[in-house]
Amino acid sequence: MSTASRQPVTSDPKAMPAHVAIIMDGNGRWARARGLERLEGHWQGYRTLKKIVYAADEMGIRHLTVYGFSSENWRRPEAEVGGLMSLMLRAMKAEIDELAANGIRVRVLGRLSQLPADLRQEFEQAMERTADYQRMTFNLAINYGGRSEIVDAVRAVAAEAASGRIRPEEITEETVASRLYAPDTPDPDLLIRTAGEMRLSNFLLWETAYSEIWVTDTFWPDFSQELLAEAVRGYQARTRRFGAVVE
Ligand code: IPE
Ligand code: IPE
Ligand code: MG
Repeated sequence: MSTASRQPVTSDPKAMPAHVAIIMDGNGRWARARGLERLEGHWQGYRTLKKIVYAADEMGIRHLTVYGFSSENWRRPEAEVGGLMSLMLRAMKAEIDELAANGIRVRVLGRLSQLPADLRQEFEQAMERTADYQRMTFNLAINYGGRSEIVDAVRAVAAEAASGRIRPEEITEETVASRLYAPDTPDPDLLIRTAGEMRLSNFLLWETAYSEIWVTDTFWPDFSQELLAEAVRGYQARTRRFGAVVE
């Protein structure tokens, strides 16, 4: 990705967030409230995600990262996990042409080796096909855990140290950050969580050090372009200090 397509983190209150991250939560509760199966909520969540990807692009958000399946979500009933895996496969097959036609770079963040082989292959093809696209980066966190991501980065740095390519005293925050799953995506400016929970659930632990957090009670399937715009306005009204004094 060229540097021209990236925007620096800025404290200009009117600026668009360069990177918006979303914890898409509440599919199950949305379904239960309608007497539907949880999987119906996930399918509706997919339809919402599709709208939000293109809405974010239209608004000029350059990087969008969404939490689709956490490393802890394997604890769910087998039928739900299996249903989510086949949803993701069908969704990626259905959407990749349109994403590519719109110049959107797709990247999947997480331990892909633990996913079903057909899904992993679909994700790898999507990433390869769109690797050079620069209009917007769409990161999909699947089998993702913030702690695993840091562990994987630490393993990479440790291997370099063991082979003598880097000395321990040379290791900086940049060294670690450059081994994370999306090293050329800036840290999220704005983190949105739907369905009201006030927690990170192991999402982007390193990257959200200074993200502005915006939570809505709305369940993910009911999330909308209007709510995204509201979150951005909320973000723009905040004062980001990054530990400094800002008058
Ligand atoms: C988010 O919705 C989607 C995934 C975690 C896969 P949930 O399935 O967590 O919905 P709730 O939180 O049970 O309502
Ligand atoms: C976080 O939601 C993971 C995703 C949205 C993919 P969860 O529903 O898994 O989070 P908890 O269990 O409420 O913390
Ligand atoms: Mg949930």
